[in-house]
Amino acid sequence: MTAALEAWRQEERRDLATIEFVDVRKHYHQGERHVRALDGCSLRIEEGEFFSLLGPSGTGKTTLLGLVAGFEAADSGEVLVGGEAVRRPGPDRALVFQAPNLYPWLSAVDNVAQALHARRLPRRQRREAALAQLAEVGLADAAGRHPYQLSGGMQQRVGIARALAMDPRVLLMDEPFAALDAYVRQEAQALIVALWLKRQVTTLFVTHSIEEALLLSTRVGIMAAGKVADVLEVPFEHPRDPTSAEFNDLRRTIHERIEAGVRNERRAR
Ligand SMILES: Nc1ncnc2c1ncn2[C@@H]1O[C@H](COP(=O)(O)OP(=O)(O)OP(=O)(O)O)[C@@H](O)[C@H]1O
Ligand SMILES: [Mg+2]
Repeated sequence: MTAALEAWRQEERRDLATIEFVDVRKHYHQGERHVRALDGCSLRIEEGEFFSLLGPSGTGKTTLLGLVAGFEAADSGEVLVGGEAVRRPGPDRALVFQAPNLYPWLSAVDNVAQALHARRLPRRQRREAALAQLAEVGLADAAGRHPYQLSGGMQQRVGIARALAMDPRVLLMDEPFAALDAYVRQEAQALIVALWLKRQVTTLFVTHSIEEALLLSTRVGIMAAGKVADVLEVPFEHPRDPTSAEFNDLRRTIHERIEAGVRNERRAR
């Protein structure tokens, strides 16, 4: 990386941010039905944390993420990033979804460079930054390839490179590895841990896999009925051993709490 680029990065580098939800409500209409997607949801994620959300389908995980991203507004309550109310989407909050949504007509490097448009850098520097970012996700050799020439795992890494190239204060990921097969998924998990250890960007990660949440996170939140019903610390150092007794104990505890949430919800209906 050139000195100029490094200086730009330092200068542009914003502080990491907290994410806060204070008694947030958000409902949707589905025909005649009134769905409470978030129902008095409160949560505080510290700067530099890796926080995972688990919970059955329809408990409001994606809704919560969308409010942090600024795609939608809450009906009531507060959504704060770095102590400031979220009003609209912005480059300080980067997103990675299950589908990487790359531009098929652009090469990997141009897909990443495209995300840097808002930075008003000269074209050459944008490209240089995009190449550096691709190298960071292990794709230096694939920079010139188009999405159709990349495997699913590689495409998702381009998606991650695109998100990180923006130097976000907050990284939002909604089941990013759900479509990957087991081995590629493990590689992607190892990459995201390495990147987080290096940069410590505040990360909010949605997954259906208890094991994935325990491999990656500093804390895990369990969603039930539009609330973060439970929060557990993950006290293990990286790299983590999913076969260890402590890991399995915590996996069982989380499994039981998710099940308890499901039972409570059934009873409430
Ligand atoms: N745009 C929308 N219009 C109408 N209803 C919606 C909309 N978005 C979400 N919902 C409803 O709000 C509830 C919460 O949805 P959400 O997508 O946040 O759940 P989720 O926890 O992400 O589920 P999954 O694990 O299946 O992704 C669901 O009942 C869903 O059907
Ligand atoms: Mg979802």
